[in-house]
Order: sequence, then C-alpha cells, then structure tokens
Amino acid sequence: MTQEKFINSTYVQQMCKITRGLYDHGWDERNGGNVSYRLTEDEISQYADTDKVLRNVPIAFDASELAGQYFLVTATGRYFKNVIDNPERDTGLVQIAKDGHSVDIRWGYNDGAQPTSEFPSHLMTHINRLHVDSNQRVVMHCHPTNLIAMSFTLPLDEKTFSRILWKMQAESVVVFPEGLGVIPYMTPGTNDIGEATAEKMKNFRAVMWPHHGVFGAGDSMDETFGLIETIEKAALIYTTIQAQGGVCLQEITDDDLADLAKNFGLTPNPKFLTGKSLVENK
Ligand code: 13P
Ligand code: ZN
Repeated sequence: MTQEKFINSTYVQQMCKITRGLYDHGWDERNGGNVSYRLTEDEISQYADTDKVLRNVPIAFDASELAGQYFLVTATGRYFKNVIDNPERDTGLVQIAKDGHSVDIRWGYNDGAQPTSEFPSHLMTHINRLHVDSNQRVVMHCHPTNLIAMSFTLPLDEKTFSRILWKMQAESVVVFPEGLGVIPYMTPGTNDIGEATAEKMKNFRAVMWPHHGVFGAGDSMDETFGLIETIEKAALIYTTIQAQGGVCLQEITDDDLADLAKNFGLTPNPKFLTGKSLVENK
C-alpha cells in the first residue's frame, strides 16, 4: 500500500471530469444526475486512506449480489458543477456490506452526505449488466434536453425511439446497435424504477426515463458518456428537423442501416431494423 491519497487517484479525477462534462453539456442542472463507478479491491488497496470504515449507511433494497464490491458514487443533492472543486464532499467510496442491506463508507461524503437517491437504479443496473458483461464498470444518469423533449411528442415505445435515433446519423446504430430501452414514466428514486431500469438493462445499455432523462451503462467513463452523447446528438438532430418543418425528403434507409451494421461487424436489434420510413409515402 502506498501513502498516495485517494483524492489524487485517476478514479476520482475521472469522476470530476465526467461530472463537469455532464454539467457543461447542460444535462445536469442543479443536482440533476448521478454516476457510479465500480472499482476493484486491487485498485482500492493502493490508497492508504480507504482502509477504514468511516460510516455505515443502510439501503432499502437487496444488493447482496454485489457484497464486498466497491463503488465511487456521487452524493445525493450535490451540484455536478461543483464536484470538481469538492470531490471528497460530493462523492464517496462505498463498499457493499455482506448482507447487501447497507454500505460502508470508506472515503468521501465528508460533510455527512449520502449516496445518490437513485442508488437502487444504479446498483440493480450494475447487477444485471455484470451478468452480461463482466467488464461492466459505470452507470450514468443525466437529463439530456432533446431526448426528454422527444418523450413528450412520440409514442413511448422502444422501436419508435430506436429507429428514429438510428436514422438521425450514421454513427447511432454503430454505437447502440441494441437500440434504446424505454420504461413508462415512474417516480424517481424508488426501488420500482430501479427494478424496471435494471430489467431493461439485461438487453440494452441505455434506458430512457420518459419526461426525466436517461440511464447509461458501460465498461468505462468514456464509453458510457459517449453512449449518452451519441443518443442526445441524434435527439438534437431530430429536434432540429422538427424546427425546420419536420418533413424528411430523404433518410438513412433500412438497407443503409443493415449495410452500416455489416460494415462494422455488428448485429443490430433485428426487431428494429425494418419498419416505417421517415419519408412520407415511402
Ligand atoms: P440525486 O441528487 O439524489 O443524485 O438525484 C438527482 C437526480 O437526477 C434524480 O433523478
Ligand atoms: Zn434525474
């Protein structure tokens, strides 16, 4: 074990950079958004100031599948614009207790803060994503403006959203070939929304929360941010099309989507590959 401080670790630096990035994009006003980052025992053990339990915080759901695992997690109620200046106050390193009903705080939350109110959605998502991807590390929630706006004007189904977002730019189907998961509107911060989100995360890495935001999961901060960034860019293009009158004279066709997938060696969700055209009467 070195005497290096955890605050200077690459993990805290990455958390600072990403929370500031989410704020700068306008996706995390006030205390909007939350991030959790799974770290390994090896990674933690390099830091002398992470070996003691500072506090124990109960959680109202069963996270026993993650018992012993470590997560760097943003605190509830904290402003993402400020995390970069106060990471030891606005984030914390937690270890999931043996029985899965509480977490031991190992570092941070140093003014008595608690983990994000969306902790159920984060941990339940980590559990289900780890079943399909052992490299799963990051869960990120934010409030991207254009995607939220689309959740008011379009039917709330996965095929509609996935196909529109895929057709807004060539990179969409490459970045999220499985499409976008969609749950109904639900009350934030509850175990119920956590369960619904995690269920979708068995098949998707991004799940839209209508009239609220999006949850993304991935193997790194960059990958997860990039996933959300790509979805929101597609939503911005869609919004801009509506502002230009909403009439598409041409589009990325279903055949174009299939060609893109073939070229990149990807298998897009077959249920979303054919359907209604964006060009009327086609
Ligand atoms: P927290 O401040 O508890 O992380 O909540 C922010 C949020 O976006 C709720 O959905
Ligand atoms: Zn939110």
